Amino acid sequence: MHPTRRFAPAAAMAALLVLAPSAAATAGGKGGGPVPADSLRALAARQHLRVGTAVDAAQLGANQAYTGLVADQFSVVTPENSMKWEAVEPTRGGYDWAPADQLVQFAEQHGQEVRGHTLMWHNQLPAWLTAGAADGTISDAQLRDILHQHITDEVSHFRGRIWQWDVVNEVFANSWDTALPNGLNSGDFWIQHLGQGVIADAFRWAHQADPKALLFYNDYNITGEDGTNTKFTAVYDYVKQLRAQGVPIDGIGEQGHLDTQYGFDAQRFQNDLQAFGDLGLKVAVTEADVRTNVDNATAQVPTSQLAAFAQPYEFSEELKGCQLVPQCISFTAWGVYDGDSWIPGTFTGEGYGLLYDVNLKPKPAYFALQQDLAVGAGSAHRGDRD
Ligand code: XIL
Repeated sequence: MHPTRRFAPAAAMAALLVLAPSAAATAGGKGGGPVPADSLRALAARQHLRVGTAVDAAQLGANQAYTGLVADQFSVVTPENSMKWEAVEPTRGGYDWAPADQLVQFAEQHGQEVRGHTLMWHNQLPAWLTAGAADGTISDAQLRDILHQHITDEVSHFRGRIWQWDVVNEVFANSWDTALPNGLNSGDFWIQHLGQGVIADAFRWAHQADPKALLFYNDYNITGEDGTNTKFTAVYDYVKQLRAQGVPIDGIGEQGHLDTQYGFDAQRFQNDLQAFGDLGLKVAVTEADVRTNVDNATAQVPTSQLAAFAQPYEFSEELKGCQLVPQCISFTAWGVYDGDSWIPGTFTGEGYGLLYDVNLKPKPAYFALQQDLAVGAGSAHRGDRD
């Protein structure tokens, strides 16, 4: 049984925005001042929810407008790339923690939490590791020890400073992959080399290194984005088993990458998040963006007016799905602005997917989220988010 989606009508939203009493000022804004009362983070705080962004280490500090927005608008940050394996251990045994350390320090100075991302993933592995595994100079037994060491070293390095860790990323099959009977991706690098038992072990190793961090499984298309619930069901059944076996998994991250050309079933999104919550797990939206076709890649102008309307709708529905599920503890956009998004480089002809435009000006999607948070702050719907 799942609650039906219920939200205040637009008129009430507008009234709330105008009448909202000044939010308890949250310290941590740019320059160390209070954050704006109508910022996403201040409004979300009133609902015991954190709203976040992925942060590009190269822009933090270097781009003042960008840095100010990160500080003022968001209460949880994810390193977009700087905690990935290729970034932290580019040569075997040669660690470079500096960019990730800077972000964690920035977060602590600005009253923000950190989502650590990510420990076991098939992408953005260092070349020394993939080459060694491919040519046999790293045996599977050694690879297992290397993974164990990597998880232990990275989680220990940041012990006590990470709120949620994406321990395992994207190991389930999509419709275009080859699936094992339980829906895991048989072609996944880690499953191929080490077998599926390594998933549970990754969570155990992370838990040993930082018993207080919340440990997440993170993936995309696990809330019906492809029009089916196949991947959701596989993940649901699998994590239910992990829980029954006492594996220390605390949450599910739904990445939330949407594309206006595919449509979006908001009710299913909410229901699936709720189903994970009902397993006793926390949930989070971890990488939200809504891409669309653009007719000017540099200026990031959407091709049709329709797309420009669809985006705030879909962003808003994703956020509301989280707001309506008590176990949803954070909502994170995958980047601050369209000038710094992975979308144009990954999806040909698409872009315009974030909350701020190429000039760092807030877009309709930003104002949609602001309204949703203002309304939610006045609702009685509160979960175990602190
Ligand atoms: C992306 C980054 O945004 C890019 O900068 C990088 O080149 C590739 O990875 N799912 C994830 C993220 O879990 O780590 C990915 O981030 C986007 C898809």
